[in-house]
Order: sequence, then C-alpha cells, then structure tokens
Amino acid sequence: MTIPKDCKRLAEVDFPIKTVGVHSLAEKKIFVNHPQGFHQWWARRPLAACRSILLALLLPDPCDPLCPNDFKNRARDLLNRVTNVGSSDIELKRSLLKFIGDIADWNLSTNRLFIGVARELIKATDQDIPFVVDPFSGGGSIPLEALRLGCDVFASDINPIPALILKLILEEIPRKGHKVIEEFDVASKNFMAAIQDRLSVFYPEDEHGAKPIAYLWARTVRCEAPNCGGEIPLLRSMWLSKKTGKKKALRVSSEQTHNTKPPTLRIEIFSPLSDEEVDPPLIANARAICPHCRVTLDPKRVRVQLAEQSGGAIVIFDERGNRIGGALGIAVARRLPNQQGVNYRPFVNKDYETIWHSEQELRLLANKIENGETIIPTELINPIRPSPNARGLSAVTRYGMSQFKHLFTIRQILLLVTVSQLIQELSPKTESTRILLSFILSRLTDRHSSLIGWDAGGQTIDHVFRRQALPMRWDFAEGNPLTDSSGSISNIINQIKGAVGSCIDISRQSGTSQLADARLHPLPDQTASVWFTDPPYYDSVPYADLSDYFFVWIKRALRGHPYVRDPFDARNTLTPKLQECVWNQSYVVNGKPKGADFFEDSMAQAFAEGRRILRDSEIGCVIFAHKTTEGWEALLTGMIRGGFVITASWPILTERSGRTNAQDTASLASSIHLVCRPRPTNASIGDWTLVSRELPRKVGDWMERLQKEGVRGADLVFACIGPALEIYSRYSKVVDAQDREIPLGGDPTAGEPYQRGYLAYVWEVVGRLALEQVLGSAEAQARNGNAGALEEDSRLTALFLWTMQSAGNGNGNGKAAKAETQEVNELEDQDEEGAPRKAKAGHKLIYDVVRRFAQPLGIHLEQWEGRIIETEKGIVRLLPVAERARQLFGEESAQAVAETFERDPSRPVQMSLFPDLETAPRLKAARKTRTIRASETLRISREPTTLDRLHAAMLLQKGGQTNALRMMLKSEVERSPDFLRLANALSALYPRESEEKRLLDAMLQAIPR
Ligand SMILES: C[S@@+](CC[C@H](N)C(=O)[O-])C[C@H]1O[C@@H](n2cnc3c(N)ncnc32)[C@H](O)[C@@H]1O
Ligand SMILES: [Zn+2]
Repeated sequence: MTIPKDCKRLAEVDFPIKTVGVHSLAEKKIFVNHPQGFHQWWARRPLAACRSILLALLLPDPCDPLCPNDFKNRARDLLNRVTNVGSSDIELKRSLLKFIGDIADWNLSTNRLFIGVARELIKATDQDIPFVVDPFSGGGSIPLEALRLGCDVFASDINPIPALILKLILEEIPRKGHKVIEEFDVASKNFMAAIQDRLSVFYPEDEHGAKPIAYLWARTVRCEAPNCGGEIPLLRSMWLSKKTGKKKALRVSSEQTHNTKPPTLRIEIFSPLSDEEVDPPLIANARAICPHCRVTLDPKRVRVQLAEQSGGAIVIFDERGNRIGGALGIAVARRLPNQQGVNYRPFVNKDYETIWHSEQELRLLANKIENGETIIPTELINPIRPSPNARGLSAVTRYGMSQFKHLFTIRQILLLVTVSQLIQELSPKTESTRILLSFILSRLTDRHSSLIGWDAGGQTIDHVFRRQALPMRWDFAEGNPLTDSSGSISNIINQIKGAVGSCIDISRQSGTSQLADARLHPLPDQTASVWFTDPPYYDSVPYADLSDYFFVWIKRALRGHPYVRDPFDARNTLTPKLQECVWNQSYVVNGKPKGADFFEDSMAQAFAEGRRILRDSEIGCVIFAHKTTEGWEALLTGMIRGGFVITASWPILTERSGRTNAQDTASLASSIHLVCRPRPTNASIGDWTLVSRELPRKVGDWMERLQKEGVRGADLVFACIGPALEIYSRYSKVVDAQDREIPLGGDPTAGEPYQRGYLAYVWEVVGRLALEQVLGSAEAQARNGNAGALEEDSRLTALFLWTMQSAGNGNGNGKAAKAETQEVNELEDQDEEGAPRKAKAGHKLIYDVVRRFAQPLGIHLEQWEGRIIETEKGIVRLLPVAERARQLFGEESAQAVAETFERDPSRPVQMSLFPDLETAPRLKAARKTRTIRASETLRISREPTTLDRLHAAMLLQKGGQTNALRMMLKSEVERSPDFLRLANALSALYPRESEEKRLLDAMLQAIPR
C-alpha cells in the first residue's frame, strides 16, 4: 500500500511538542554512552527531536479521508503492542501522537519493542523503504535516527570531520557491529601500552607514588614601570580549590634578592579561612597588575609582550636548561596514594627539567618532514573574525598565536605528535579503528592545550570549546594524559567506547555518507522520500574555521585518507572554506567577501537542490535553530522560491538554558521545524484579497488550539509561521488587484502590501490576536492610538510579557538561552576574560522580535526607550518596576510623595508623578549594535499613562505607603475601568515568582470593592 500524495502526514497536522521538548532537554544532559562522545561538533541537535519528527513526517494522519484503511488497521494492531488504542480514527491518531512523543525518550531509544513498532509503522506506509536525505549532516543526528527507524539514508557534509563521523556511524558500525568494539579494544590497548612506554618519563610520579594530574601555568609579562622590571604572572584567579573544607589558594609576593636585579616572585599555596584572605587576580580586563610595584600594564602592552613570545605558552630556557622567561609554573595538582581529593604542591625545578627534556625530545622529532609536511602543525590560524558577531579562532592571533602549534605547550605538542605518529605506526587494518584512533587524538587536543583552565570547583581540567570560538586564557592547566582523571587517554578511550556502544544496535543496515556540497547535491532527481535537514545559519557558527583546530592534527594521523583534504582545492591545507554556506568575511568568493548575501544565495541553491532530489509526492523538513528571527525572511523566501510549500511549523525546546554566560534573556530556546512539500509545477497564482482574508482566521484557529496545549509566547508565534505560510506558499506567487507580486519580506513600515511583504501581516495578526487575548479588542484594534484603548506603553508591556512566556519557562520565567551574538559580544567586552558584568535585572527579548510586533501595532519603541524599556546591543529589557521609582517620583522618593499626598489628599498622587523631568533617565550613548536613543518626544510628553500610574501604585505598595495607596486606588477606580483592567491583565502575565506579580496581587487585594 502507498499513502496517497494528498493525504496529510501527522507532522502536517499535529505534533507532541511538549513531550518531545522535555525529552530533548533531558538528552542534552547525557554525555556518556552517547554518539556525541566521538568528537566535538558544534550545534548538534538532540536525537530525540530528530527521531520523533522523522516518524511524524513518515506516518499519515489517520483522520485524513485519504488515509488508507489498511494502514489504519495495521497501525492499530501495532500500537496495541505498547498501549491500548480505541476504535475511532481520532483515537488512533491520539495514540500515534502519544507514541511519537514517548519514543523521544532516550531510555526507549534502544527498546526493541518500541523501536520495532516504529519501524513496522513506517513499513506499513509503503512497500519501499523510505530514503532519507540530509545534505547538512554535521554530527549526524538526523541520519542516525533515520537508520534507527529502519530507513535508508544518504548523509553528507562539506567538512571532513563530520564526513569521518558519518562514515563511522552510518557505514562502518552498522556493517560490522560488535566487531568494531572488539577491534578497537585490541588496538586501543596496544596504543595505550605504547604511549605509556614513550611518554611516562615526561609525566613522572612524585615521591611516595603521588601522581600529578595537572600542571598549572601562567603566561608572563614584564613590568614596565621604571626601576621595576619584575615578572608578572598573568593569574586570572588565585583560587586552586573552592571545595568546602578543602579550600586552597595562591599567594604571590615580591622578593628583592639583590639590589641590581629585578625583584623575584614568591608563590605560596595556603588554605584560606575566608574568601577575603584570597588576593584579587593579577590580570583583569586584559590589564596586568605588577605584584612587585602594583603598577598596571595596559592591555596593549600585555598583547605586545605576549606576541613576542608567540602567545607565551612555552617556557624559555637558556642553553643549560634554566628557565629565563615564558610560561611560569604555578603549582601542581596531584593525587596522593590512598587519599581522596586533590593535593597541591609548588612547582619545582624538577618540573622544569622534564619540560626541558620534552623540548630536546621534540627537537629530535621535529626535524622530520613527512610528505612535505612538518609533523608539527605550522598552518596559520585565521586572524580575521568571520563577522562582527562571530570571532571564530581570531582572538588568540592577537596575542601572537599565529600558527596552530602556538596553542600548545611543548609537552602537549610532544604528546600529540607522539599519538599521531603512533596511529600511523600501528597502521590499523580497518577503517573503523583508524577513524576511532584519530578521534582519540582529537579528543586529546580538546583537553590538552594552553587554552584550558583549571576548574577550582570541579578540581579538573576544562576543555577548549565551551563556546563557538577560541577564547584567550592567561593562566592554564596542563593535564596529565596518563592518569585516569578527566582528559586522560584512558578516559577518552572509554568515552569513545561508550559512543560506539550507543551506536552498535541502532541498525544492521548501513547508510551512505559523503563529503559533498549541499548546493551541488550528488543524488539524481526525484530520489529522496524525506529531505530532512538542519542547515547552518548566517554567522552563528564558523564551522570550517573552528574545525581546523582538530583538522591539523587529524590529517597528520590519517595521512592519505580520502576525507582529510579539501576535495575542491588541492592547494588548501585546511578544511574547505569557499563552498561552506556560512557568512565568513575572511574568504572571498567571486571577488566578494562571503557575507550575508552569500549565505542567503547558497541556502537558496541548497533548497533548490533539495526540491530537485525530493520526489514530488513526498515531504521535507528544515530545522531553524538559531536564537533570533533575523534573516528568516530571506531564508523562507529561498525555500519558497526553491519550490517548496511550507505546511506546518513546530517549535521544539532543544536548547538548554544556563549556558556559559547565560542570563535571563528570552530568546528562542526552541528549534523551529518547518515541514514542507514540493510545490506542484502547475501551482496557480494567488489573489491577495483572498490570502489576506484567510490569514487571521487560520492563525486564530491555530493559536487557540496550541494554547490549549500549553504552547505560549514566542513558541506560539513561531508555531504560527507554518499555517500562515501554507496559505501563501501553495501559490506560484501571490498578486494584488494590479497584478503586483506580494513578496514574503519587505519594508514593514510601508503602506502597500506589495511593499510591506506578507510576513509583516503575519506578525501583525499574531500580535493583534495576542493583545486581544490579554487586553481586549480595543487595544488589538488600536493602530495609532484609538480612543478608548490603553496607551502604547501598556500594550508594549503586555505584548512583551506575553512573548516572554514559553513552554520551557514555567510560568514564563524567561530562563532561556541567550542570543548567541550577545554572548560573543560579551566576550569581546571583557577583552577575553575578566569577571563577567553582572546582568541587569528585568525581562529581556531580542530587539528583532519586539520590533516585529511593535511596529504593526502602532507602538513606537523609540518613544518608550528609557521610560519602560532599555535597548542595548540588540536586546530589549523591560525595566523592572523598582527601576522606575526615580523616574516616577523624582529625587524625593515615593516616601516623600506619599507624605505630601497624605497631608493634602485633594491633590491626587498621579499629579505628582514625574516631578522633575531632569531626573528622567539619561540614556547611555549609542554603543555598538542597535542602542537606541530616546527621542526628544519622551522628554516632552511626561503625561502619566495608565501604566505609569499602575507602576506608581505598585511602588507605593512596595514602600508600605498604605494610606497613600488606598487613596490613589480609590481615585483610579472612580476615574475609569482601565486601571483595574490593566492590573488584572498584567497580574496574569507577570511570572509567578516575580516581584511585580507579588506587588500587583497585593495591591489588587487593597482595591476598594
Ligand atoms: C547545524 S550543522 C548540522 C548539525 C547536525 N544536525 C547535528 O546534529 O550535528 C550544519 C552543518 O552544515 C555544514 N555545511 C556548511 N556548508 C555546507 C555545504 N555547502 N554543504 C554541506 N554541508 C555544509 C556544516 O559543516 C555543519 O556541519
Ligand atoms: Zn612592577
């Protein structure tokens, strides 16, 4: 049986977003026995979401009149093995959706019964096995899940590292099964023995069997103050251990041993009894502080001095092996026999001797040149930042780390070179072992470089790529790879074994992988039954640049392997860059740096290729998983022009909150899964009048339905894109009465539809419906300040809070992942390091999201800047009520206003608001991206609005000025119903645990009835 082309698939009508979101987030916490243990790759998607979406793309909707009875009967039989299915179509549909939600559970991903049922359900749709194609496969989440569900797969990526991962997980492991583990077991044992043999002298034990686990270093500069010249260790923190009961810290002091010599350093380890005993760092915001004379060295000079040492990770010795400069040993973390925890000892001469020996050894090896290539990576690190928002690898080059070898200490290079050579010497017979051994090397580079810190909390070494960039580190930890602590070879081998184990039973049927450009897809026309992909997004991750960090090592270990080269350019010694669909201005294509346009054009080509290889009767899905909506118009246009009709969109929570530097910003924590179908070549032309009439109805129905399921805020907005675009994209184009085409994106401020573009109408409809729900129809219709409606600031606040709510945020607490761009900028601000600035309080949304709603609803953001919102670097913050106190009451404070008021009740409180315009919040001068200056109008129009008065009342409540509050409430209630209406609406919108909610509810209690 085959499902008719026009029969809807489940993913086009419904999807258990909540359950799948819960499982996706849970999976993100799993690091062991998971395929991500093979190799670092950026922007991996949870397998959970891929699995469930794929199933929903393949299965038909049993309630569709075209759904064959045979399928329904078979599906009912199958589902009855895991649950009880009712007899009606709707019950069957419900059971299928529940099954699709449940199967996202990581614990069920290897459950034979469940996976068996899923596979059989898919088989029941067609005689042929579905063929799933993903042209941007990365770490392979989508194709791996396709294999698990019994599909045939074709996975490709432009980058050699994913190509190796894909080859392993889609071809080698399914083909060879347990043999992969057995072979790797043998090989890794031999490997381990040989490494121990060659390297243990470079990681000697201390007396009585104490084992160093990490050597702690600081880069150094020289003080430039006259008469000083002392050495400054760039210590970013004096803490060694923050474990309760086992606190350890460093104390650095100056010693003048001889009058003519510069002072020397004395470094002690002590057990602080309180945090105050621990000295501040010797480097903050890239400014070094001399421990001898306390004079500071400015960031420019720090940079110059480090550049003279090629970054400063290496110890400089005289010809007899005495340290004369460069990296300074600070302490050694070690384990004592029969003792728990980590012990610290000072760095001693013997430790430098080992480094000196490593250097001699490396010198012997370094003279070796293989195939015209040194065994040490001397390739240049790209010094140009990919875009204003992305740094890639560039930061470290500003400190003189111009070649990859500069990122490592001498002993680390010795380690990595030895591993790389050993892999070649062992010359594994099988492809799988070869790849797996090379992954040990990659994993080692991630844990052994001079960019890794010591985690004083966890007492372990960190790893390199906590962000999608290489940050500079002043002090660093060099781990011992021969112990069994984190980052050691034995740990890495176990981690890789766990990853193999997690893939072994996925499938016995192998797929196909290839290193290929998605814009020139290798498959013939009309071959795919599902085109499911997760493409890159503008400049959010410079994959190719980042991957060079690993590639320079892997290519040496896997010399001659067909994947470890640039297939498009034999002269390129690094990963392919020109073909990568990423905004990276350091590369030039057709005479122009690769910018946003390049990205958009490339994506349009990839979508057109997707349409070409997808069968007419089949289905596709594209994941949009970045944090802002900027650029969507271009991408959606590319998809539609490429020949797709968008039929549904599902936001699934896939991003964890609390990432590095995460703050309270509500951005999209979900990935939007856009379901699409090939548009028939004979699609008709749409009439704008009909399209625009259908839009509010369709979106309204959809919102109502999803809200019943608990979908809220921004998630709800993006779930509406699917149905909105379904109306629009089913036509070859949409035109107005004058035959002018209505584009998807346009100028939202324009008046005419053909200039404004369709999406502006979509945002408007969604925003209006949201406002109608929270404030009522008058506000929803108010475009330019209709009489009777609450003012703009109320509408803006309500919309803001409405958008903040989302499924993952409890009652809209807004603890979501922050904008990637912001994260990068923050890094920049601190000039690599230094204490992160304390995040300002208040709810935050991406400017781009706020703008989309505000504009069509007649809200002028710039007029409220500094009054109720504050926009900085692309993030809009709703000012907490407490921050408005000075604005509303002036210098005199609420207390004083309340007192005057109580003395003279004839003068209403609201008359006393904004007493002195001088204290109107002064706005910061524009900094970087999109900081908005308050318009002059703000200063002029200080008429208190309903929201101002409500906030004033809340502040009186907060200050305990009960008499004043009571009088104010009385006069407000008499004045108009607006005050109460707004208070009730906001009470429903403020997060449950927020101070505002508490104040509002307490205030509402005091309202005279
Ligand atoms: C968002 S990632 C995919 C992540 C993947 N879904 C996972 O879970 O690991 C996008 C991928 O597109 C790849 N890519 C970029 N340009 C490409 C091109 N022209 N052809 C094929 N792949 C490309 C990148 O190397 C990156 O791995
Ligand atoms: Zn000094």
